[in-house]
Amino acid sequence: MRILGIESSCDETSAAVYSPEDGLLSNVIASQDEHIRFGGVVPEIASRAHTELVIPVVRRALSDAGVTLDDVDAIAVTAGPGLVGSLLVGVSAAKGLAFGRGLPIVPVHHIEAHLFANRIDHPDLEPPFIALVVSGGHTQLMWVPQWGAYRILGTTRDDAAGEAYDKVAKLLGIGYPGGPHIDKLAREGDRKFVRFPRAHIKDDPYAFSFSGLKTAVLLQVESMTEAELTEHRADLAASFQDAVVTALISTTMRAVRAMRARKLVLAGGVASNSELRTRIRETAAKSKVTVFQPRPILCTDNAAMVACAGAYGLSQNRVVGWDFNPDPRLPLPTLEPVV
Ligand code: KG4
Ligand code: ZN
Repeated sequence: MRILGIESSCDETSAAVYSPEDGLLSNVIASQDEHIRFGGVVPEIASRAHTELVIPVVRRALSDAGVTLDDVDAIAVTAGPGLVGSLLVGVSAAKGLAFGRGLPIVPVHHIEAHLFANRIDHPDLEPPFIALVVSGGHTQLMWVPQWGAYRILGTTRDDAAGEAYDKVAKLLGIGYPGGPHIDKLAREGDRKFVRFPRAHIKDDPYAFSFSGLKTAVLLQVESMTEAELTEHRADLAASFQDAVVTALISTTMRAVRAMRARKLVLAGGVASNSELRTRIRETAAKSKVTVFQPRPILCTDNAAMVACAGAYGLSQNRVVGWDFNPDPRLPLPTLEPVV
């Protein structure tokens, strides 16, 4: 079986072909550079760029996989959450292709797709596990007792982890998107240069908060001269990253212990962060917990994860009709919170 996946929820136009039997056959990601000069994603520009890119990207994904639409059994597409105009382009493309070929359409939840990115390299990965989803729009700690049912244990009270990276990168005068730039710069810096605050929310052991940290970085930057800032930019990046990674790991490990989890799954753009990847593995190993993390290119937005989640969705008969539309606020299929 082969699934064509299409992802267009934000500023990456991506298409991929995935086969449950043969694995990932192709994964084409066109990142829209149009947004760099604005220092963030401009929704209207994103929709227009998706319109231009989606068909060439699908064509390339099919040719990279060495297949044609005749060899595809279903089309999986991100149904939400995301930017409404961007989602609409992917869904319309999926509908057109599916209608022309009489193929089923499988809608995929973007966060669920991030989790399924782990299954591409680890097809045997099965719940139960704790998952930490850290992206530009989401920071969610969840308990996953089975695929398709997610219990949110904690979320961020303010900025998402990736959003904090992007905003702090702006404060430090580094490019967009901030995450990869800070990650790289931090390797040359001293993480003990400043001890930034690690927020703990009273009465909510699994919540995150990053806006206080962002303000602390702002105050620090304002207290320095231009020359000092130039000299210590890498130190500030390392100190900021240390605060984020420490907060993510300590809260996640609290949930791992409470749920007596043996597996921990990372997902989302920030899961490609080199320091988070190394330190969470080291910490979890001490508690004999196995960490799963997608390879970096499958952490940030991509259609491979959508196609892989679509294969699961198809097995659950999650097929929709031609009246289907994306939902920018699509909720995750959740279980009641208990902890
Ligand atoms: O999952 P993703 O591609 O898109 C959303 O669904 O939001 O995540 C994008 C976010 C951005 O905020 C970006 O700065 C962050 O992930 N990111 C990183 C790294 N690579 C991407 N953050 C920290 N370290 C990285 N290496
Ligand atoms: Zn994402």
